[in-house]
Amino acid sequence: MYVWKASLAASEQAVAACRENLSPEERQRADRYVFPEHRRRFIVGRGILRTLLGRYLGVPPGGISFDYTKFGRPFLANEDIQFNVSHSGDMALYGFVRNANIGIDVECIRPISAMEIAARFFSPKERESLELIPERLREAAFYRCWTRKEAYLKARGLGLQTPLGSFTVSLEAESPALLSVEGVPDEPRRWNFVNIDVGANATGVVVFSGAAREVLKHTISGGDV
Ligand SMILES: CC(C)(COP(=O)(O)OP(=O)(O)OC[C@H]1O[C@@H](n2cnc3c(N)ncnc32)[C@H](O)[C@@H]1OP(=O)(O)O)[C@@H](O)C(=O)NCCC(=O)NCCS
Repeated sequence: MYVWKASLAASEQAVAACRENLSPEERQRADRYVFPEHRRRFIVGRGILRTLLGRYLGVPPGGISFDYTKFGRPFLANEDIQFNVSHSGDMALYGFVRNANIGIDVECIRPISAMEIAARFFSPKERESLELIPERLREAAFYRCWTRKEAYLKARGLGLQTPLGSFTVSLEAESPALLSVEGVPDEPRRWNFVNIDVGANATGVVVFSGAAREVLKHTISGGDV
């Protein structure tokens, strides 16, 4: 399985090259963004996704046609390759795997009221664990918890109608894992969590189903499209 890290910062020329490969619907979506930097991130993000999928499938980037689940997740019909994308600011992560479910998440670390947000979104066990962590280390632990929850939800493909407090992930840096899911005792055994190193000011994680696999990591930029 492969994880690609990308910067969505790109020259005007690279943005134009990415846009060339988008479908009419994607171009319309790009045009709906009010802020130019959001538009640029979407165009470059999709351009890179199309380039990577094109390489894996042996087709030109512009020849890829996405379907969408009712929760908005893009996927490829009639292909065994599964992928997921996450972006935060100018950073993006892409995960690709064959014959497994996959979810990925990256978040740039910004100052937040960790305990207040945890009170709304985390499970009682996650809140307890967070409270026991010394304050100077709490923000990093909060982001580990948040990205693990998000990546797991994305791997399930469900979106946010799943109550966020109904499942518990680990908070420790070195042992990312799903610890429990209400009413589904076997669920944690189905999923692998792997930390993705995205530098000191961000947190990244990929989640995939089935047997453990080696995660091969690469980087790409808008200029490579
Ligand atoms: C849409 C959602 C799946 C992810 O949103 P997000 O964290 O804002 O965004 P990310 O950058 O990580 O992921 C967005 C990408 O995931 C993919 N995606 C969209 N819907 C998806 C879904 N239901 N499942 C999996 N992937 C999805 C898309 O490729 C999307 O990129 P695109 O818009 O460029 O096509 C959803 O979980 C959400 O709205 N989350 C809000 C954040 C939150 O409250 N998290 C709580 C964690 S404790």
